[in-house]
Amino acid sequence: MVTGAFSYTGRFVAARLLDRGREVRTLTNHPRANDPSGGRIRAYPLDFAHRDLLLEAMSGADTLYNTYWVRAPKGSLTHTVAVENIRCLIEAARHAGVRRVVHTSIANPTASTRSYYRGKAAAEEVIRSSGLSYAIVRPTLLFGEGDVLINNIAWLLRHLPIFAIPGDGRYHLQPIHVSDHAGLLVEAGSQAADVVVDSAGPEIFAFDELVRLLRRAMNLRALVVHVPPVLALAGATLAGRLAGDMLLTRDELDDLMSDILVSHQPPRGTTRLTDWLPAHSDEVGRRYASEIERHYRRVPPETA
Ligand SMILES: NC(=O)c1ccc[n+]([C@@H]2O[C@H](COP(=O)([O-])OP(=O)(O)OC[C@H]3O[C@@H](n4cnc5c(N)ncnc54)[C@H](OP(=O)(O)O)[C@@H]3O)[C@@H](O)[C@H]2O)c1
Repeated sequence: MVTGAFSYTGRFVAARLLDRGREVRTLTNHPRANDPSGGRIRAYPLDFAHRDLLLEAMSGADTLYNTYWVRAPKGSLTHTVAVENIRCLIEAARHAGVRRVVHTSIANPTASTRSYYRGKAAAEEVIRSSGLSYAIVRPTLLFGEGDVLINNIAWLLRHLPIFAIPGDGRYHLQPIHVSDHAGLLVEAGSQAADVVVDSAGPEIFAFDELVRLLRRAMNLRALVVHVPPVLALAGATLAGRLAGDMLLTRDELDDLMSDILVSHQPPRGTTRLTDWLPAHSDEVGRRYASEIERHYRRVPPETA
């Protein structure tokens, strides 16, 4: 069982499992949108209000790959609610007889006290105390077809004459390619011992360096300037409004600048962004990746 098998990371996990000859089911609210499996994945609603349906969906499943999380809270869907939803999912998995849960967290979940990280740390506790065999995999930042942050930086560089870096831009990121990350998740699923591992790539960039790398790879001339974080946030909020999205929240900006999107373990990913980018410079940033469009848009019934 893979949550979000037609969305971002879940799609790569599902593809790997299918390649290994495994049967894959998914819990999702975007059932047929872009199904890359040609109908081989059976979809069930990701509906935390109906525990019996979650149980039915997971009955007979060996491993639950949980990618569910809420990046940008909206209305009553807060990070605290997302943690309770994970609790509900894990309870259902336990009752359905699932052997192992492979849970996606984030690198350094206790390094920030802001709500996203507090929720991530609390969700890990739900997994640890579930009584299920578990792997907790902690990605830093993902890149590769369908990613959000790196894609949207590229989109801004393509569409605006000036790119504003918050502060000195010396805070670091250690991106991992989504395929490497999915490989790590699937590998973790085949094991039995309880493990907690970081999922990070082989290169570390200062934010400033990353922006300039993207600009160079796409052969653009946007002016890169440093501005006070409060101004960068105002710009991001305005750009987000124009795009009908939440481009960057205040918490995300604070966390980004806290140097916590890096791992302190040996890197497990092998794909280098500096190798990947030249081969994908025509695609990256061509389409804006909207959080609202992905997760808060109503799916028309005929595609559900
Ligand atoms: N992307 C990154 O750079 C990054 C970095 C560090 C950690 N992570 C972690 O990696 C995990 C997977 O991320 P991802 O980018 O692959 O996510 P995703 O595919 O966009 O979403 C994963 C699952 O969560 C559901 N979901 C997400 N937001 C939701 C919302 N607002 N309301 C209801 N359901 C929602 C999706 O539902 P649908 O199936 O209906 O789409 C999907 O099943 C998350 O735990 C995330 O925190 C990601």
